[in-house]
Amino acid sequence: MSDKNAMYVGIDLGTSTSALAHVRSDGNPEIVPNADGERLTPSVVFFDRFEGVKLIGSAAKDGGDPERTVRHIKKHMDDPSFVVEIDGEKWTPTEISALILSKLRKECSKIVGNIEEVVITVPANFNELARKATVTAGRLAGLKVRRIVNEPTAAALYYAHTQSVRGRILVYDLGGGTLDITILNVDGDNIDILLSEGARHLGGSDFDEILIDLIGQKYQEQNGRELILDAPQRRRLLALCEDTKKRLSKLNVVSEKIGSEEFGIAEVELTRDSFEEAIKRLLTRTVMLLEQALDNLDLTAADIDHVVLVGGSTRIPKVQELLTKQFGKAPISCGNVDECVALGAALFAQRARRVSEVCNHSYGTLAIIEDAVTGSKSVQNSVVIPKNTPIPCSMSQTYMTSEDNEELIEVEITQGEDPDPRYVDIVGKISLRVPPGRPAGCQVTVTYSYDENQRVRAQIYDEESGLKKDVSIEYDGEGVLKESDIERKSAYLKQIKIV
Ligand SMILES: Nc1ncnc2c1ncn2[C@@H]1O[C@H](COP(=O)(O)OP(=O)(O)OP(=O)(O)O)[C@@H](O)[C@H]1O
Ligand SMILES: [Mg+2]
Repeated sequence: MSDKNAMYVGIDLGTSTSALAHVRSDGNPEIVPNADGERLTPSVVFFDRFEGVKLIGSAAKDGGDPERTVRHIKKHMDDPSFVVEIDGEKWTPTEISALILSKLRKECSKIVGNIEEVVITVPANFNELARKATVTAGRLAGLKVRRIVNEPTAAALYYAHTQSVRGRILVYDLGGGTLDITILNVDGDNIDILLSEGARHLGGSDFDEILIDLIGQKYQEQNGRELILDAPQRRRLLALCEDTKKRLSKLNVVSEKIGSEEFGIAEVELTRDSFEEAIKRLLTRTVMLLEQALDNLDLTAADIDHVVLVGGSTRIPKVQELLTKQFGKAPISCGNVDECVALGAALFAQRARRVSEVCNHSYGTLAIIEDAVTGSKSVQNSVVIPKNTPIPCSMSQTYMTSEDNEELIEVEITQGEDPDPRYVDIVGKISLRVPPGRPAGCQVTVTYSYDENQRVRAQIYDEESGLKKDVSIEYDGEGVLKESDIERKSAYLKQIKIV
């Protein structure tokens, strides 16, 4: 519970913008601005060529060489092979995120005092690798990451705390890079998450890409020639598209001067209708995901008491219109839809309410399964803990060894729901050496335990010998920093001038 002198800090490390919030002594959360006076820090890093300074935020976003500007790095947090190379130096998504977190830590500390411990938020559908990378980014930035919490959970906590929203709630979070849908019950001081679903690569930056194509099309229609852009011009236009998109949330028609001196500059007129039509396919996908989420809980739209909006992209009028149509009532918005995740994360750090979550992924193992009808055998993914089981939890499945004289029992740990092994991730392996000379058909029990940080432990138990082995599933493949590297890199990042 809360201690009046303690500091409770939450950070929303977003695809487009990041924010830091703390809980004031009156128990309410507030955003702490950066040294530029901004409540939201654009998650953009500019690598300066002259002094090696790393410019972060609006100064990085507005202008500068696009080749030296890194945006939307969060989209690559789960990709161990992704690196950005600038001036011959390679930067991983974890390190770039650490630069953003460093700016927030340093600059916000000047206002609220030294920030050490934090809660950082992630999309509900972030996988193990991306969660681990987020914790590491925090550590590289000199922070102690007390918890990783799902963004919609943090936002729900904020709505429950400050807007007194209660009942069965659906959080619709459409940000810069991801869509998260969470259904939860808010009852007094208790919040029970019932389901979290989402889609990666479905958010505002995808709308910006679509808008670029639309501008190209309109340019051709209105000027009779093709819009030709080189890579830097395209990136600049992409940045402009974000502003155009925001204006289209308020105006029905906007016009932009597009092109280059080389190929000709022309005015292009865009209407809100044409933009909404262009992004219709993605918006329809969000509606399908909503229906699927309700279906998974055997609920209908009428069972939802309130739909709450989170994420900057929910300012698009069509998004609100679709939700109103789907649920028969207007969604609730706190206005600062891009701040409520950070505000809720600070409340989470304070543990103002009890929040129980669900696991965000299914975990299972590969097993040989016989088809009941045809009798044919194939290797399939057998789920042990299904997605959306309340956590913490522990679940077991018993399997039989398939061969005589098996001395090494190997269990591959899968993440994903699909029965087809090609569509799941292998996130670990656990092996147990057993006494020789045993026939096939010995029973082996696999138990997975899921803790509140979405971390998984696996145990394998051989019934006959009584032998068992326990491992925590840690992704430590390519791209994951070793402890010694974390210290070295953290010291290196401390020397970099970040402004
Ligand atoms: N008025 C507006 N109309 C349309 N889009 C908007 C508006 N305001 C902000 N956005 C878009 O919202 C997105 C940023 O929202 P937000 O800050 O909530 O995302 P994020 O937290 O960075 O992303 P994610 O949660 O996916 O990691 C950007 O794509 C931005 O262009
Ligand atoms: Mg967000």
